[in-house]
Amino acid sequence: MTKVEILVGGALPKKTEETLADLFAPRGLADDLSGVRGFARGPTLKPERALMERMPKLEIIANFGVGYDGVDLAYAARHGIVVTNTPEVLTEEVADTALGLLLMTVRELSAAERYLREGKWRNAPYPLTATLRDRTVGIVGLGRIGMAVARRLDAMLVPVAYHARHARTDVEYPYYADLAALARDVDTLIAVVPGSPETKNLIDAAILKALGPTGVLINIGRGSTVDEAALIAALKDGTIRAAGLDVFTDEPNVSAELIALPNTVLLPHVGSATVHTRDAMGQLVVDNLWGWFDRGAPVTPVPETPWPRK
Ligand code: NAP
Ligand code: 8YV
Repeated sequence: MTKVEILVGGALPKKTEETLADLFAPRGLADDLSGVRGFARGPTLKPERALMERMPKLEIIANFGVGYDGVDLAYAARHGIVVTNTPEVLTEEVADTALGLLLMTVRELSAAERYLREGKWRNAPYPLTATLRDRTVGIVGLGRIGMAVARRLDAMLVPVAYHARHARTDVEYPYYADLAALARDVDTLIAVVPGSPETKNLIDAAILKALGPTGVLINIGRGSTVDEAALIAALKDGTIRAAGLDVFTDEPNVSAELIALPNTVLLPHVGSATVHTRDAMGQLVVDNLWGWFDRGAPVTPVPETPWPRK
């Protein structure tokens, strides 16, 4: 049987690429893409309308990642192209990372480790830090990952409240329709919202001011949801205390100002970055493509996708 031509682009895990090569006829960016019907879209591929236009027969974009803000949804909708993502399989991993980042930021764990390595402990103990014991966390985006973060905070006896567009009916955490009101009532925000035109700079100077001088911001969602210039100003002038960031506005270029600040903990977008979880995400990319071409049924189409096809 002739294998379906697919474009494999943007640095997918090796294991995923091998599985795709078993099942499909993979093409690269340098190849003729006119016969390509599926697209396994890796993380390093920037959105590129010109690339999409080289694939007139494209039926499905299988995005490697639960966030699909990099996919040109308008183009996909106009051309009846199904878009899929990789929800669930990364939820617990990303929540682990969020908690790690929270602890690193509030308890200054990376700074304390640097202190030891620099031989400073011999002279004096590391200074006492802030604590989670007197904090309340506001989760911005109580979806799959937000819930997994909340469960971890429950176990750590840290009170949780949340903001999203809709209140959930299955939790008792206090809901704030107004993000500024949430920021005023808590001292720690953990942002886990998708990137979208609607969430761009959702956390801006006013929200940081409401969070206040003991405030800590953790962002594990998307860099675009935080006004980075406002955050840098707030960290510099003491409007908030500290920030822990896994995501940035212009990855992999991280602002030199953020790097220079002593009250930031910065990770290179490693929320889901384990062999186990990246392989599971890759397998879901494969399953979505196979599901579509074998039986016309993608496993995890995104809500906006034109599915079932008219
Ligand atoms: P999800 O289950 O869809 O949850 C998204 C949450 O955000 C929902 O609670 C949603 O609630 C809320 N939300 C959406 N738009 C909003 C808006 N305009 N204002 C306020 N809240 C809004 O998604 P997930 O699986 O938890 O993933 C969340 C995001 O995390 C992904 O989209 C991705 O960007 C990011 N992520 C990052 C990493 C990393 O490595 N750092 C890894 C995985 C995912 P409502 O619909 O009620 O508003
Ligand atoms: C991915 C992510 O690793 O799933 C997402 O939305 O941000 C991460 O899990 C990323 O898309 C690929 O680097």
